[in-house]
Amino acid sequence: MEKLVSRWCKNKPLPESYIFPPETRPGNLVVPTCNTIPVIDLNKAEGQNRTHIVQQILKAGQEYGFFQVVNHGVPESLMNESMDVFKEFFEMPWEDKAMLYSEDPKNSCRLSTSSVNYAREKIHHWRDNLRHPCHPLQDCIKHWPQKPIRYREVVATYTIEAKKLGLRILELVSEGLGLESRYFGDKLSESEMLSINHYPPCPDPSLTLGIAKHCDPNLLTLLHQGDVSGLQVFNNGEWIGVEPLHNAFVVNIGNQLQIISNNKLKSVEHRVVTNSRVARTSAAFFIVPSEDSIIEPEKSLVDDAPFYRAFEFKDFLLHY
Ligand code: OGA
Ligand code: NI
Repeated sequence: MEKLVSRWCKNKPLPESYIFPPETRPGNLVVPTCNTIPVIDLNKAEGQNRTHIVQQILKAGQEYGFFQVVNHGVPESLMNESMDVFKEFFEMPWEDKAMLYSEDPKNSCRLSTSSVNYAREKIHHWRDNLRHPCHPLQDCIKHWPQKPIRYREVVATYTIEAKKLGLRILELVSEGLGLESRYFGDKLSESEMLSINHYPPCPDPSLTLGIAKHCDPNLLTLLHQGDVSGLQVFNNGEWIGVEPLHNAFVVNIGNQLQIISNNKLKSVEHRVVTNSRVARTSAAFFIVPSEDSIIEPEKSLVDDAPFYRAFEFKDFLLHY
């Protein structure tokens, strides 16, 4: 618990153990927050523009691995309320969070800090994290935070809506790939994980990272990044910032979707930089295959040889 950044960071200089080597630290480089990452209006997918929207999603998935969606159907009030409750969680007194703190990555709902394995990592990351599975809801919810009082109710509604949206986007992706629209709708999207990141203001954002560069190992991610920037995506040899758009979701292709699409869609490296002014809270909703899913390139998307061999998803997790 003492290790949580938010616990000790106030008025302290950046500890040595948080300083990234020069090649991976952000430095003083000003990264343009740009609007090159496509913003897609999902409202239009229901009308005669559907094919156009499908093409936009596919193109964004190929070029950037990322896009944002607006008019996505998750009520604005629910997005705001969830973000409020996530922030409130991290603002609560320590006593109210202590029972959720764990250094065991296998714990099903846990508050932790830095990357997945604090004990084994060389450099620590400037973030605290709360994560828990969300499916099946009746089983998982018992392990979720009991405070703030409305956490379970608000977040349950939020995850149900986020899942619906994820499935809708996966239908559009399937159509774009020429697959039946329910292709991803069963085992390949069965599990869900919510990962809430809290990045306190940092004394020297040029030297450290909130999350180091990585790809998401799941099928699809829906990120609620609130109103504070920090997410950067690697594109054409440079980092670009993803502009926070109020009430939008940032969507990115996970490793499993890249594999199944036989590289027609890309799972792209991204990272999170910190800032010295304000705390940033973000919530990543991961759509994940069931452990017994067989992951392999879909045959109809293979021209010559597939880029990947088939494997069981649980074996992927074992090696990840
Ligand atoms: C993640 C992630 C981005 C962010 O949790 O995998 O990339 O902006 N988060 O917090
Ligand atoms: Ni990520």
